[in-house]
Amino acid sequence: MSQRGLIPLLLAVIAAGCAAGLPAPTAGDASRAGQRFPGASVDRLARGRTLYVQTCAGCHSLKSPDEVPPDQWAEEIAEMRRDHGVALDDDGASAMSAYLWAVGTRLREARVR
Ligand code: HEC
Repeated sequence: MSQRGLIPLLLAVIAAGCAAGLPAPTAGDASRAGQRFPGASVDRLARGRTLYVQTCAGCHSLKSPDEVPPDQWAEEIAEMRRDHGVALDDDGASAMSAYLWAVGTRLREARVR
């Protein structure tokens, strides 16, 4: 590879690294979340993850999904929209809540074992 091609590649790798600690949703996450968030699927949770990275990193660092009690995420997201003018529609907020709830519960279970 030429040197001119290497630098943009390195920058892309570094940018991806910023969100690398945030787990991708699994089929197990989607099935657990489905009981609470109708229509949850791996794709929908992945959309919630993308929105979380895109919408929530502007003012403070992204919290790990297990840093907040999973049942509290929907309220935190609502509070950010209400009190801090975070632009997110209801459907996006619901996908984000489902992602954070599902991965948060998974990480917390892993911690207990
Ligand atoms: C416009 C700036 C801004 C954006 C964007 C933003 N936040 Fe916040 N967030 C804040 C501020 C300011 C605080 C601390 C004060 C507070 O809790 O209201 C905070 C605090 C928090 C807390 C901690 C609350 C606590 O009790 O300690 C959580 C969780 C949180 N944000 C989640 C999110 C999520 C999820 C998103 C994306 C939907 C988001 N934030 C986007 C400004 C922002």
